[in-house]
Amino acid sequence: MTQVVLVETHGKVGLIRINRPEAMNALNNDVVDGIGAAINTFEADENIGCIVITGNEKAFAAGADIGFMKDFDYMHAYKTDFITRNWERIKTTRKPVIAAVAGFALGGGCEMAMMCDMIFAADTAKFGQPEIRLGTMPGAGGTQRLPRAVGKAKAMDLCLSARMMDAAEAEKAGLVARLYPADQLLDETLKAAATIAGFSLPVIMMIKESVNRAYESSLNEGLLFERRVFHSAFALEDQKEGMAAFVEKRKASFRNR
Ligand code: CAA
Repeated sequence: MTQVVLVETHGKVGLIRINRPEAMNALNNDVVDGIGAAINTFEADENIGCIVITGNEKAFAAGADIGFMKDFDYMHAYKTDFITRNWERIKTTRKPVIAAVAGFALGGGCEMAMMCDMIFAADTAKFGQPEIRLGTMPGAGGTQRLPRAVGKAKAMDLCLSARMMDAAEAEKAGLVARLYPADQLLDETLKAAATIAGFSLPVIMMIKESVNRAYESSLNEGLLFERRVFHSAFALEDQKEGMAAFVEKRKASFRNR
């Protein structure tokens, strides 16, 4: 049986590849459970400092698998806690996750990319929330994360018209952190992930947690959270090492504590 999720490690970076090319990487339970299992492994591995999720050159993922869910009824969706049960593992990992998107990121594929901490896109990337065409609506965060990323006007347009946004528009709108020619996307993303993973792991996690607070709190509460975490960073051996290395004009050697 083909493995629908391929898992690799590149030094301190964990790479997860969605591998259903015959179905434009449509996301069924096997794929999403596989991604969750890979994240569990990377989360438990002290050597891993950053995770990358990618697809292939045609699709990051063209959405939740329509064939898989077409006959769901309300009770099934509710009882199995569809989406929440396994998709949200991406959002709970404490290590940063980069989505490397080439080709289609539609519906649940766009939503999965947005669950990640950053999106790096190839110039071939196309983002959209076309669920309305299927007689349904985004259900993995599209109506919530897209407005936060690109503003209400564009989010409303994409969700209601089902149109696709290309990589240049997505980068301009703030959905995409970095844009690369397609043949450089994965290498450049792995390089950026390796840079992140080379820093102190507790600091990486503190920064991720603090930036995410910006979504969940008022400015004053967020600033207070940041200040407390910043103060706690003075308890780290890595802070002593990082600042000593700067003063001594040498490269810091972090020990993740
Ligand atoms: N689910 C299941 N199968 C899918 C799929 C999906 N979301 N997207 C594509 N596929 C399959 C196609 O059925 C086709 O399979 P067959 O060869 O067996 O017929 C194969 O992938 C290739 O697709 P196309 O022939 O359609 O390729 P294309 O290049 O002509 O078009 C596309 C590509 C524009 C991505 C088109 O496939 C498409 O529109 N896909 C559906 C996109 C969509 O509606 N996504 C939202 C899903 S709902 C959702 O995600 C809910 C949620 O919020 C959680």
